[in-house]
Amino acid sequence: MNTFHNPAELHAWCAAEKRLGRVIGLVPTMGCLHQGHLSLIRLAKERCDRVVVSIFVNPTQFAPNEDYDAYPRREQDDLALCQAEGADAVFLPRPADLYAQDHSAWVEETLLAKTLEGAQRPTHFRGVCTVVAKLFNIVQPDIAVFGQKDFQQVAVIRRMVRDLNFPIEIVRAPIVRDTDGLALSSRNAYLTPENRATALCLSRAVRQAQDAVAAGERDAAAIEAAAKETLTAAGWAPDYATVIDAETLIPIQTVLPGASALLLAARKDGLRLIDNTLL
Ligand code: PAF
Repeated sequence: MNTFHNPAELHAWCAAEKRLGRVIGLVPTMGCLHQGHLSLIRLAKERCDRVVVSIFVNPTQFAPNEDYDAYPRREQDDLALCQAEGADAVFLPRPADLYAQDHSAWVEETLLAKTLEGAQRPTHFRGVCTVVAKLFNIVQPDIAVFGQKDFQQVAVIRRMVRDLNFPIEIVRAPIVRDTDGLALSSRNAYLTPENRATALCLSRAVRQAQDAVAAGERDAAAIEAAAKETLTAAGWAPDYATVIDAETLIPIQTVLPGASALLLAARKDGLRLIDNTLL
């Protein structure tokens, strides 16, 4: 497994692999890898000849009041996991390798990025799009794999790829859950045992929505109200519980099975978790 810190060196390696006709897959991550990330690497390995994993806690997607400094970092463990999964290259830039001191160019999606997470975190998706565009330019992958856990992120990146003509297929990989249902996330490390137990209300709300739609419910307002009730009853304050069109993220009134999703975000004790499901 090759490790790179320098973007130009990774670019040269990827270009050489592409000249040999190899299909390249990119798995962008912020490290602290868990089974969810490993499932993305496995999916990329099934589809590609070479898999590049990037590990970079991207400062520009954190607001000043957010957890950039506290975000868990476990570089040595991450490298061992990438090696065990058969990643071909790992990219571990330092902030100065990607952002010049006078960095002044940004990539911004201006519609899908403004709602839901974007309403709570106004500069978040600009940071995500900028760093993902950088990674796409450096690696020039054929496909890039992102987790459905960040549903809005995948939609925003798909829109960026469409609108800026990146010749890259964006693959959305299913959410990986713990045995009790909690969606895996690096930020689960912040949960106390008590908060972890009550946090199961998010996956419970997701299951209830899936069951309701399977039983014939199509009224988005009823699904949203039931989800909010489940979160609130467990002591988690909903930021949103919204049924949306899965591509445009526009809130809808009537569930169209296969084309709709329920997105949830809730807070408790200074913690904030998200979850979602396609309906
Ligand atoms: O989902 C993440 O871990 C990050 O937002 C990403 C896509 C790696 C960009 O920093």
